[in-house]
Amino acid sequence: MFRFSLFLVFLTALSGIHASPVEYDALRCSGNLSATDVDLVHFAMNLEFTEAEFFLKASTGKGLDAFNATLAKGGPAPIGAKRANLDPITNRIIEEFGYQEIGHLRAIADMTGGIPRPLLNLTRENFAMFMDRAVGRRSKPRFDPYANSLNYLLASYYIPYVGLTGYVGAIPYLVYFNIKRLVAGLLGVESGQDAVIRTLLYERQDETVEEYGGVTVAELTNEISNLRNELGMCGIKDEGLCVPLWLGAENRTTSNILSADPYSLSYDRTPQEILRVMYGTGNEHCPGGFWPCGANGRIARMFLKKGCHGNDDACSDY
Ligand SMILES: *[C@@H]1O[C@H](CO)[C@@H](O)[C@H](O)[C@H]1NC(C)=O
Ligand SMILES: *[C@@H]1O[C@H](CO)[C@@H](O)[C@H](O)[C@H]1NC(C)=O
Ligand SMILES: *[C@@H]1O[C@H](CO)[C@@H](O)[C@H](O)[C@H]1NC(C)=O
Ligand SMILES: *[C@@H]1O[C@H](CO)[C@@H](O)[C@H](O)[C@H]1NC(C)=O
Repeated sequence: MFRFSLFLVFLTALSGIHASPVEYDALRCSGNLSATDVDLVHFAMNLEFTEAEFFLKASTGKGLDAFNATLAKGGPAPIGAKRANLDPITNRIIEEFGYQEIGHLRAIADMTGGIPRPLLNLTRENFAMFMDRAVGRRSKPRFDPYANSLNYLLASYYIPYVGLTGYVGAIPYLVYFNIKRLVAGLLGVESGQDAVIRTLLYERQDETVEEYGGVTVAELTNEISNLRNELGMCGIKDEGLCVPLWLGAENRTTSNILSADPYSLSYDRTPQEILRVMYGTGNEHCPGGFWPCGANGRIARMFLKKGCHGNDDACSDY
């Protein structure tokens, strides 16, 4: 199905017609919300919390609360994050990223007061579920993001990139100098993290992932990007490590260490797209996936609808 959509987008690009329902749905894909600068950076905190917990726990064995218990503002502890079996270099890199996320959360909290940490589902099962959906079949043995460096990097491919696209999407709507400066600084480091993760994976692009019967790392990144494009529902905003020439920089290369548009500019995503992707439901009103009880802050809560899923009771405390 996605291949077909890609083909349509391709045809649309060739024919010069815009706003086809597959490529772009103006209403569904508009980032023009009635949201303040503070709402927009609060929304980003959901991703920063997710990264902080995933990186810190994997590399140090300790979660955010062990470093700064006030940042979570009383939000529940994450579920399922744990120490990963990482090689020493990967461990050092992820540990640094984890501390950077604490800095990002502090920066936002100091300037705007912050929001409570949402419930985070960082269980092995949740990553396996997303990964299985991307590949289109069940992993055997079950995919475990914490099992080794390669699996951890593949799981990490999921997160900073989404944050990066969110910052690119938010900046044009910001009003105030101080918030623009903050978000520009967040974007810089977030995109750096994504670049490092993608470079480490690029070096291993031909290695096979046993849990998916020998699919290569490059193929898996394409599948994950395709899944995110499908869930986001606003065309191509996400590309794997090896692409057809027409998606490569200047149509001259198939290597794609950085995911970017035909001008080699970063793709943007709206809060709704990010919710659709991180919930895994393709619906910004219906939580699930990494944020089973919904994301926090005014923007996410504005979209949240009761009765989308069978989990309302479990979430009533949050
Ligand atoms: C966003 O919406 C407001 C109110 O409808 C409108 O005035 C403004 O021009 C829009 N901005 C963009 C960039 O579309
Ligand atoms: C935790 O972060 C808050 C917000 O930046 C800061 O005020 C506080 O001093 C930090 N606490 C620790 C223990 O670092
Ligand atoms: C976390 O995700 C897994 C896999 O989808 C699911 O089975 C589990 O119930 C989720 N946990 C919570 C608290 O939502
Ligand atoms: C590369 O090809 C795509 C699709 O044919 C086209 O939209 C894009 O403008 C091309 N880029 C360059 C730099 O020629």
